[in-house]
Amino acid sequence: MQQNNVTVVSNYAIAKNVVRLDLRVEGKLPSITPGQFLTLSTGRGEQLLKRPFGIAAYGDQTVSVCFQIVGEGTKTLAKAPVGTQLEAVLPLGNGFPSGYRKVALIGGGVGVFPLMSFAKTHGVEFRSFLGFRSKEYVCCEKEFQAFGALSVCTDDGSYGAKGNAVDLFFESGFKPDAIFACGPLPMFRALKARCEGSDIPCYVSCEERMGCGVGACLVCTCDTLLGGKKRVCKDGPVFRVEELVL
Ligand SMILES: Cc1cc2nc3c(=O)[nH]c(=O)nc-3n(C[C@H](O)[C@H](O)[C@H](O)COP(=O)(O)OP(=O)(O)OC[C@H]3O[C@@H](n4cnc5c(N)ncnc54)[C@H](O)[C@@H]3O)c2cc1C
Ligand code: FES
Repeated sequence: MQQNNVTVVSNYAIAKNVVRLDLRVEGKLPSITPGQFLTLSTGRGEQLLKRPFGIAAYGDQTVSVCFQIVGEGTKTLAKAPVGTQLEAVLPLGNGFPSGYRKVALIGGGVGVFPLMSFAKTHGVEFRSFLGFRSKEYVCCEKEFQAFGALSVCTDDGSYGAKGNAVDLFFESGFKPDAIFACGPLPMFRALKARCEGSDIPCYVSCEERMGCGVGACLVCTCDTLLGGKKRVCKDGPVFRVEELVL
């Protein structure tokens, strides 16, 4: 984990209210595991507190995040022009485990973005199942198609199949060695219920409101069945779904 100055190299809308920021990192980019996240801020005014975002893509000296504009922090970041210097801490948290050969990626809403970072993983068969609210929120199809088969659905059926990404996966007949998922709480509840008794391990990447992002403030704790409270930023954000109290 290191504090970096990063520079906005591109900033553009990819869906309704959703922006992609590509950032050049000064110095050597540390090694990144898919599922890890970064925290980002302008370092000024209301932006002193860094906001957490999954790492959506990375190169030799670049990292990218995609995010929905929801409040002051994301509004300010979404307006940062090319050339703006931002402060980032990365990479944070524990990503998804390695060693599986056939993986189902299940993403819902803004939860699809951290899963995009598997683009750099080789020797694994990926199939992605992505769910969005409606057509205007659908994005990143090309990025996912570049490393595996992709199925898309929307809640209202305005694009792709009608329904949610969990059902889409279970109806597909795909038999992976592991499931990696990121999305809203109802998605995790559905996965937990449907994976119970199955021998396919299911890992989910959690989102909690965060303060420090590095394990010091305990703002981000979640309840687990055996380990009591755990910090999403430091002990997660990736957990086995059956471990979580949902
Ligand atoms: C590990 C992790 C990865 C994430 N990855 C993404 C992503 O790839 N794309 C995306 O669109 N969103 C992602 N989020 C959610 C994103 O961090 C929030 O939407 C963002 O912080 C909201 O900031 P704001 O100032 O615009 O909103 P406000 O509501 O004004 O935020 C106020 C404060 O609450 C915190 N906060 C608000 N919502 C969240 C939230 N859901 N999670 C954590 N902190 C929150 C903010 O950091 C800020 O300190 C992620 C969250 C976590 C924890
Ligand atoms: S955000 Fe401070 S401990 Fe997790």
